[in-house]
Amino acid sequence: MTTQPLLQVRGLEKKFPIRGGLLQRPVGWVKAVDDLSFDLNRGEVLGLVGESGSGKTTAGRSILRLIEPTSGSIRFDGEEVTGLPPAKMRALRRRMQIVFQDPYASLDPRQRVRDVIGEALTIHNIGTKADRRDRIAALLQKVGLTADAMDRFPHEFSGGQRQRIGIARALAVEPDFIVADEPVSALDVSVQAQVVNLLDDLRRELGLAVLFIAHDLAVVRYISDRVAVMYLGRLMELAPSDSLYDRPRHPYTRALLSAAPEPDPDAPKQRMLLEGDVPSPMNPPSGCVFRTRCPYALPACAEPAASIPREVAPGHVVSCIRDDVIMA
Ligand SMILES: Nc1ncnc2c1ncn2[C@@H]1O[C@H](COP(=O)(O)OP(=O)(O)O)[C@@H](O)[C@H]1O
Ligand code: SF4
Ligand SMILES: [Mg+2]
Repeated sequence: MTTQPLLQVRGLEKKFPIRGGLLQRPVGWVKAVDDLSFDLNRGEVLGLVGESGSGKTTAGRSILRLIEPTSGSIRFDGEEVTGLPPAKMRALRRRMQIVFQDPYASLDPRQRVRDVIGEALTIHNIGTKADRRDRIAALLQKVGLTADAMDRFPHEFSGGQRQRIGIARALAVEPDFIVADEPVSALDVSVQAQVVNLLDDLRRELGLAVLFIAHDLAVVRYISDRVAVMYLGRLMELAPSDSLYDRPRHPYTRALLSAAPEPDPDAPKQRMLLEGDVPSPMNPPSGCVFRTRCPYALPACAEPAASIPREVAPGHVVSCIRDDVIMA
């Protein structure tokens, strides 16, 4: 048993070319993810949170190499994933899976559930033909569906049930790590908690590590061991969940938390609302990317040093140069 993190991401960057004009020539770049670094331990759930467009999906897909990262290092179980040749990448894919945001779009409507799940088993050559049916039945049971679901088509299920099928498909190959990209955002609020609880049960039972992406801090609170907050492609804060929710240090995290509905209406609360729009990701502010909306911004916040994440308490990383603000 090794204590090395399952996943080590260092300086991850992904740029997309923006094309324009008649000839669709590149006219600029979007840095969707810029200098992202974090570890994920075996069996750990890391919540990855930020407003739409902050780079969460790009980060998740780059880590799985569903899209090619521009630069940076991704180590999975000690092995560098970037630049891995296709055959080795295929073998690794069995250990890293994804659950998509939209359970309607991510399941082929013409495939019966047994084929949706069976396909993953075939691709990775898992089990014999004879025992596949039993495996599929067991997977469906694990995600709270009955075995007879395998003979039905995706449209016969509700959104929550479809997401259970998506989870069963990801689990079919017995991965160590799952990227769950906003797995409950498309679901009714009433079923969101059920699907989050299912993921929480499964990770305990199977020892799964999960990168749980959400745009809302409230959604990941109870499932996450630690939480990372992104803004405009950059990491703003990363901390154990208790510290992050009880004592958020970055002004952006504080703003996100104060915008969330308060479960206890009598709880004292400091309102900090975000003013202004998110700047264009093609032309982000220099230094701290949050500075155009930060009520504490100083001239020094425009300098490169203001963008660098630093550990301000054990395991608590913040990208902000103002000690007086962080410690307040
Ligand atoms: N294929 C692409 N081509 C160009 N820009 C992209 C592409 N995918 C994402 N982006 C841009 O990258 C930024 C981050 O997007 P994304 O990772 O989808 O954010 P999130 O998942 O946090 O909403 C956005 O500005 C988005 O417009
Ligand atoms: S570095 Fe400056 S602009 Fe950025 S969060 Fe801190 S105080 Fe605000
Ligand atoms: Mg996304």
